[in-house]
Amino acid sequence: MTKILENTSIKTYNTFGIDVKADFLCFYNSPADIKEIITNGPLHRDTEMIILGGGSNQLFTSDFKGVLVHPVNDFIERVEEDDDHIFLKVGAGCNWDKFVEYAVSHGYGGIENLSDIPGNVGAAPVQNIGAYGVEAKDSIYKVHVVSFHDGSEKTMSNEECKFAYRNSIFKSDYKNKYLVDSVTFKLNKKPEYISHYGTIEEELKKFDEINLTTIRQAIINIRSSKLPKPEEIGSAGSFFKNPVITSIQAEQILKKFPDMPTYPGEKNMTKVAAGWLIEQCGLKGFINKKGTAGIHDKQALVIVNKGEATGADIVEIAQMVQSRIFEKFNICLEPEVIIL
Ligand code: EPU
Repeated sequence: MTKILENTSIKTYNTFGIDVKADFLCFYNSPADIKEIITNGPLHRDTEMIILGGGSNQLFTSDFKGVLVHPVNDFIERVEEDDDHIFLKVGAGCNWDKFVEYAVSHGYGGIENLSDIPGNVGAAPVQNIGAYGVEAKDSIYKVHVVSFHDGSEKTMSNEECKFAYRNSIFKSDYKNKYLVDSVTFKLNKKPEYISHYGTIEEELKKFDEINLTTIRQAIINIRSSKLPKPEEIGSAGSFFKNPVITSIQAEQILKKFPDMPTYPGEKNMTKVAAGWLIEQCGLKGFINKKGTAGIHDKQALVIVNKGEATGADIVEIAQMVQSRIFEKFNICLEPEVIIL
């Protein structure tokens, strides 16, 4: 029997710490719970329903009139192994960083660069979470999903998930139609280290050797120097995606701003650093008039709750940032965070 809370505050279930209520908050343990809430519970055809994982990528702007399904299945199961790889099946409700810590401590490589990312395992394939030259898709082998329509289950291959930069089929065709129940990861017993990205190399000089543990520690050090700790300051990590523009436009901007960080994209496209663009508009450390919300003073891509921010306060800042970036660079910033 699944646990269901009615008309409940979800302040502690979203990392922005926005105090809104949900009509229903259902805790998910196994596919049987979905069947139960379809048959006997609040999930009917016309009810709005969304999945709330670690709440690190959703911004609530008002009370949620519907059903939030919150996975709490947090198992880590060894399913198969050979000389080079181990296959681990992990419940959607497992805290992401607990899983990374488990993998690193057992000597399994592939996700160490994704250390310290807030959120739960179920969101990893949805968002195709990424950091420091690595994306979750590189280690995801299979994703097991449950249909909200009839509770049926299926297992999807990596290809079927249609992974792209911060994107997957779960954000388009499968959005709110399927719940990620568990993810099977293929990790390396003989890991190859990716340490060339950004400041990792520099940070690693502080350690005697390069291994999974030191890479994880280096990343935790870098992240904690730039990103607010969710327990202390509400945020959702990067608020915007790094925009992908035409290489012609990037070259034009580079003529005026030669320091702009760029990354090669797919053909004739270039990805640019949104945080840099926002900083160029003088918005790093910005605080709104009410003093409730602002832009993080160490990483301009992060919008923060300064205390009693409402979802509307955060959205107001996001819209202001979008229009300032558009005016200065003729670039449209797209939120990474889902605004509800
Ligand atoms: N930059 C600035 N000013 C800023 C922020 C960044 O000039 O305020 C410059 C940096 O100096 C650097 C470049 O922009 O040259 C990129 O910055 P950084 O390496 O910090 O990464 P990012 O592009 O801002 C992305 C991810 C992060 C991830 C980091 C590290 C997105 C939207 N964000 O940020 O992911 O941790 O790379 O790989 O892709 C998240 O998604 O929540 C997240 C934190």
